[in-house]
Amino acid sequence: MNIDDISRSAIPIEFHRNRTLDDFKKFVTEYRNWIFSYSGKIGGLPSNHYITSGVTDAFNQTYALYNKIGIFDGEYGYHKIVLDQRVTHNLEESDVIIISHPFSADGNCSHEKIKEADQLGIPILIDCAYLGICNPNISFDFSEYKNIKSVAFSLSKTFGTGLYRVGLLFTHDKYPCTIYRDWNYDLIASAEAHYGLLSNVSPNHMYEKYRMKQEEICKHLNLTPSDTVIFGVDYTEKYTKYKRGKVNRVCISNLIRDKI
Ligand SMILES: Cc1ncc(COP(=O)(O)O)c(C=O)c1O
Repeated sequence: MNIDDISRSAIPIEFHRNRTLDDFKKFVTEYRNWIFSYSGKIGGLPSNHYITSGVTDAFNQTYALYNKIGIFDGEYGYHKIVLDQRVTHNLEESDVIIISHPFSADGNCSHEKIKEADQLGIPILIDCAYLGICNPNISFDFSEYKNIKSVAFSLSKTFGTGLYRVGLLFTHDKYPCTIYRDWNYDLIASAEAHYGLLSNVSPNHMYEKYRMKQEEICKHLNLTPSDTVIFGVDYTEKYTKYKRGKVNRVCISNLIRDKI
């Protein structure tokens, strides 16, 4: 018996499905490079990056770091459902502002909104869940802004892997995920579900592959094609059931799939 083998941490006796971290570390590098292989502009991201369980994990951790969450009208519904009164549209009273880019309500560019929010001197988290399914004319270059503390990416929308969520959070902030590595809490299972996928599908692939079908379907339904390929947008009163903020956002993924 070696007294040096006792430990402070609660170590299991048996290890099933034990893994080395080699493949995981390779994946993290590959995922970061995948994001930077986007043919549109990309830059101004915080240099440190961490695997999360999708953008949702980054949201949940943001909710623990900051009390009042500021959002624009039409923003992704999860914030309001989870936090209710802790969500505000009065950005000036918020502790952090979360902005989806492309914007959740229409799949289009959010730089005007980011500019407006950046004036307020409040930390900003950018939700880039739609990088991978958007028009490369959308710029992910955030270098002109002063208050972007975190930028979150996801593979859920590109690969339809939302049940195995994996994301990459670039942040200057002290998010819990910044200690996952030291704490031996790497999200290997989520990463593993994506091994081998990134080399065949670039962040531009889905948009290039489906843009024409999106345009045809939108023409047929009298919708304006969004810069995010799964959406058509209605600025009239035709699709009010699909209202998000000021516009009606129609997801046409099922129609695109039927057309293949
Ligand atoms: C705008 C937006 N952000 C974030 C998410 C959640 O992404 P993830 O699957 O990475 O948690 C979604 C999913 O619908 C979304 O539409």
